Amino acid sequence: MSTLLHIDSSGKSAFSVTQPLTVYFAEKWKQANPSGKIVYRHLGESNLQFLNAEVITGFNTPSEKLSDEQKTLLKQSDELLAELENADVYLFGIPMYNFSVPAVFKAYLDLIVRANKTFSFAGGAPKGLLANKKLVVITASGADYSSGPAKAMDFVEPYVRAIMTFIGVTDITFVKAHGTNPEAINATSKQAKRAIDELIPQAVANRA
Ligand SMILES: Cc1cc2nc3c(=O)[nH]c(=O)nc-3n(C[C@H](O)[C@H](O)[C@H](O)COP(=O)(O)O)c2cc1C
Repeated sequence: MSTLLHIDSSGKSAFSVTQPLTVYFAEKWKQANPSGKIVYRHLGESNLQFLNAEVITGFNTPSEKLSDEQKTLLKQSDELLAELENADVYLFGIPMYNFSVPAVFKAYLDLIVRANKTFSFAGGAPKGLLANKKLVVITASGADYSSGPAKAMDFVEPYVRAIMTFIGVTDITFVKAHGTNPEAINATSKQAKRAIDELIPQAVANRA
């Protein structure tokens, strides 16, 4: 059975542009893959902890030497890692905030990018440890960053590509919508849905 890990991070809830698009993807994926399982998480409702001295010390302590207190602190990170390991396809809804990812999404990355869990430096070179995963990222922004001088201001796509590749996820597709008025948002969301329709066969074929 294939598993889709569906993660949203919009702070806008009902007015979100990314969320209806991730839901559209998840519904289409389920239709194409009826026996598939979907695991859903909204990062804004996940009470993600920020990294602090205790958590970082815990990350750098061998599991057999962790105190009960450290184990409790690492529990959230361990749960997030288990979700990633158990899924075949990742679906991330990521709005652009201040040219980059929302703070909750950065907090999520800080909890999943872990030495000897999702990456290693064995042999002196970095190696991503998540293998055979597919990632679809649905982003939304006010402006259009697809070309011209604005392109250099998009720190969402290059950053998410870099960090996910670092942990081993190299099959990454971006679907984007943008706009500051309902007409533009509707038009680019329609285009995004067409792009999603084209992606679904690959997202299902990838799992087996
Ligand atoms: C706090 C905040 C910061 C934003 N920063 C940017 C930005 O840097 N560039 C941009 O084009 N749009 C920016 N926007 C607009 C959002 O990217 C846009 O509303 C998008 O639809 C957000 O996705 P969502 O609707 O799924 O939350 C920002 C919106 C908010 C609320």
